[in-house]
Amino acid sequence: AQGYFTYDPGFVSTASCESKITFIDGGKGQLLHRGYAIDDLAENSDYLSTCYLLLYGELPSAEEKKSFEDMIMHHTMVHEQIHQFFHGFRRDSHPMAVMCGLVGSLSAFYHDSLDISNERHREITAHRLISKMPTLAAMVYKYSRGQPFVYPRNDLTYAENFLYMMFSTPCEDYKVDPVLGRAMDKVFLLHADHEQNASTSTVRLAGSSGANPFACIAAGIAALWGPAHGGANEAVLNMLEEIGDESNIEEFIAKAKDKNDPFRLMGFGHRVYKNYDPRAKVMKATCDEVLDLLGIENEPLLKIARKLEKIALEDPYFIEKKLYPNVDFYSGIILKAIGIPVDMFTVIFALGRTPGWIAHWKEMIGGSYKIGRPRQLYTGETLRPVPKS
Ligand code: SDX
Repeated sequence: AQGYFTYDPGFVSTASCESKITFIDGGKGQLLHRGYAIDDLAENSDYLSTCYLLLYGELPSAEEKKSFEDMIMHHTMVHEQIHQFFHGFRRDSHPMAVMCGLVGSLSAFYHDSLDISNERHREITAHRLISKMPTLAAMVYKYSRGQPFVYPRNDLTYAENFLYMMFSTPCEDYKVDPVLGRAMDKVFLLHADHEQNASTSTVRLAGSSGANPFACIAAGIAALWGPAHGGANEAVLNMLEEIGDESNIEEFIAKAKDKNDPFRLMGFGHRVYKNYDPRAKVMKATCDEVLDLLGIENEPLLKIARKLEKIALEDPYFIEKKLYPNVDFYSGIILKAIGIPVDMFTVIFALGRTPGWIAHWKEMIGGSYKIGRPRQLYTGETLRPVPKS
């Protein structure tokens, strides 16, 4: 305080909110969705059941699951006119740039579900986004490669359908390996929600002004893009490629510890987890499973990642700072093994996180809320007169 403004830091309000959706215990490395542990869900449930859980608070019965899955899978096609949106983008745009634009523009298209005070509209929008995000994501990939869009199929699972739309061409039908489909489903599930992270808080803040849900989700996609957040999976792969050989690992660990070097170990550390990110454990096991299946268990990047993790976890700096692998450390290796290009990794994260963003938006809009207005601590100039000329 400069004597003019006095403030008690205790009164500086921090943006916080109540929620029943996800609980994280950063010290224990625990993540619960509506009370279910993430590793339990990954082992015994699937992505669409987790979407249902996040939206409605309970896991679906077999009958509820069938009807939810049928409804989602029978709305995966996008209106033919949305194909035109793409032609305003350069083919070499970053896929996340196209996703931001595309999802935001859906509010210029789906006029019939924009009344946020109408519960039915909120429901339709939630389902539309979960149904159509895989189709839009696959279209973004196809457009960037100059290939024709592939229409969704209703006879495949949600994750299998995504891989089919990504890799099929008119010349050759992509045969979806069910094991890769299940791995893709698990990657989506592990990204489904994560409490008040930067992108979810962005969705809530945008929603608190009464903005329509498509605009709020587009804002969340923009926030996710940064390398400190969802862009980390792409940054991990680029880092592993840059390390190039196990013999170079120590040099990069030293850079990560050097306070004068802005380099950080991508895929390591977390604002909340001061223990192993429980999602990273499942992701690591899934990575081993996929690479074994594909017969590339000796993939050089995986060997570098494993050695890097081992050295970092035994390093006093990382131990003292409580830095552990996070959800992004192994996800990129799985996606690369499935055949997904690095520039699509954060789009996959956005696809997986969509039910979480929508659940938080619906939870807020469905209750009483006020516009978000984070307080600031003013540290600028005190009042002063303009000099007389
Ligand atoms: C996600 O919030 C969420 O929940 C996000 C997410 C989700 O699901 O939505 O979990 C997804 O974003 C995971 C994080 C992905 N990002 C990365 O992997 C990028 C690399 N990680 C860092 O940039 C960093 O760890 C953050 C951004 C994730 C967290 O940054 P913080 O909050 O500044 O980390 P911290 O307070 O725990 O840092 C403690 C110390 C700091 O040093 P000091 O200031 O105490 O001297 O550890 C250092 C940091 O400089 N540190 C690192 C480091 N991460 C933190 N040093 C080297 N390498 C790192 N990766």
